[in-house]
Amino acid sequence: MTSTAIRVQGIEKSYKDLHVLRGVDFDVASGSIFALLGSNGAGKTTMVKILSTLLKADGGSAVVEGFDVAKESLQVRQSISLTGQFAAVDEVLTGKENLILVAKLRHLKNPGRIADELLAQFSLTDAGARKVATYSGGMRRRLDIAMSLIGNPKVIFLDEPTTGLDPEARLEVWHIVKKLATEGTTVLLTTQYLDEAEQLADRIAILHEGRIIANGTLAELKQLLPPAKIEYVEKQPSLEDIFLAMVGTGNNESVKDRS
Ligand SMILES: Nc1ncnc2c1ncn2[C@@H]1O[C@H](COP(=O)(O)OP(=O)(O)OP(=O)(O)O)[C@@H](O)[C@H]1O
Ligand SMILES: [Mg+2]
Repeated sequence: MTSTAIRVQGIEKSYKDLHVLRGVDFDVASGSIFALLGSNGAGKTTMVKILSTLLKADGGSAVVEGFDVAKESLQVRQSISLTGQFAAVDEVLTGKENLILVAKLRHLKNPGRIADELLAQFSLTDAGARKVATYSGGMRRRLDIAMSLIGNPKVIFLDEPTTGLDPEARLEVWHIVKKLATEGTTVLLTTQYLDEAEQLADRIAILHEGRIIANGTLAELKQLLPPAKIEYVEKQPSLEDIFLAMVGTGNNESVKDRS
């Protein structure tokens, strides 16, 4: 039996007249990887900010590791970490100093040892003594994720973890994310890359016009489209076909959240 790490029910959020989230519902099982997929401006970052207690919802409820994000934000913060859409590393510090800083902020013992272990785990040992200003995009992302793992959070939020990375660096991040989940960490990631969701996620939810319009495993989402036609070659629908059919001109109501 799997337990639920994140439960989102009827979440609403507006910025003045802009009604971004219009009743968002989804669950994330403990130790799974959940991808929130959506176009620019769909509200992915808004949803992640609400779940990580940085932003208050206007309505609905969200529970992370059994704690209500609105009423028990301190406990939620102790259970999670967030890697934001834009790298939070400090350029003037070295990689190791960044890690030590976070370990100290989290009041952990042996911050130097924690930093060294993470540098090794993320193949940054040689670069650890260099200022982050000299790092490549992939190295910064790796350091950013390493920083978010300090203190062993049960749930990790990754907002567009691979945006702007080259294919090799993306693969490295995917590898890290998969490893986290096998070790029991729950991962909620947002992405605009359909292949990323396809490669990584146990479940994929599509956020569109303020609601989850589809939520399932890749196999379940594939069933939402008509079966592959056999002409000369059989073509299975890709996640991209499904996404475009739903978000594009398609009739969203007919495929809405059949999970
Ligand atoms: N603080 C804010 N004030 C006003 N509008 C905002 C604010 N933050 C976000 N928005 C608007 O809300 C909508 C959703 O933004 P959000 O950043 O959640 O989208 P997103 O899915 O993360 O997009 P992206 O893929 O570009 O990161 C956008 O139209 C954005 O302009
Ligand atoms: Mg965003």
